[in-house]
Amino acid sequence: MLDKKIIIALDYDSITDVDSLCNQINPTQCRLKVGKQLFTRYGGSIIKNLQNQDFEIFLDLKFHDIPTTVYKACRAAFDLGVWMLNIHIQGGERMIKAALKARDESNPSGKLIGVTALTSLNNDDLSIYNFNERSSLVNHLALKAYNCGMDGIVCSPGDISKIGISDDDFQYVTPGIRLNQNKDDHEQAFTPQDAVKLGASYLVLGRAVTESDNPDATIKSIIKSID
Ligand code: C5P
Repeated sequence: MLDKKIIIALDYDSITDVDSLCNQINPTQCRLKVGKQLFTRYGGSIIKNLQNQDFEIFLDLKFHDIPTTVYKACRAAFDLGVWMLNIHIQGGERMIKAALKARDESNPSGKLIGVTALTSLNNDDLSIYNFNERSSLVNHLALKAYNCGMDGIVCSPGDISKIGISDDDFQYVTPGIRLNQNKDDHEQAFTPQDAVKLGASYLVLGRAVTESDNPDATIKSIIKSID
């Protein structure tokens, strides 16, 4: 069976809303992303709760700190049995290697992926990095992640072709997916079909699914469209 490509972002404040969505969707068809908002309110108990319903979890906490602290935080996260975790590549090589060590000691099959440059950074924000273009910074950080042995990166589908890594095992986790013309707060948005054509390994979908009338039917139609 093909790996599940769909990751649903649980951008909620309340466990009631999480339960309501989870009762309508199927863990054989998608995985779930838990971010800072939900994790800060409920901690590890929300992860266990979702795992007990057979959902696999991408814990999106984007760690960025000194290597020792990131090592300990990644140990704690992988000890929860999460399927995927992310850190900022900008934390540097020693921090990345500390995170990989934590993953290997706790849960070797867990995936550790890197955040390159946040899509919300504008040219002024990026000027401190001494890169003329956003894509050069993204490329530099993607290569750093790859050379350190990370499993992949979070990026826009539009970034993938500009990244000079030819290794089918390196994974691209892509937010900014839309089923219609509505981009919400994304600079660029892509349909699931276009994202997959551009090389996306996993599609992160929030509002397009969670605010749809029938989340289960929406997920099924996305899966059909990218088959
Ligand atoms: O509702 P929407 O599909 O826009 O949700 C996108 C999800 O992807 C949110 O959870 C957001 O935090 C996340 N995201 C991300 N990295 C980005 C852009 C969005 O993890 N560069």
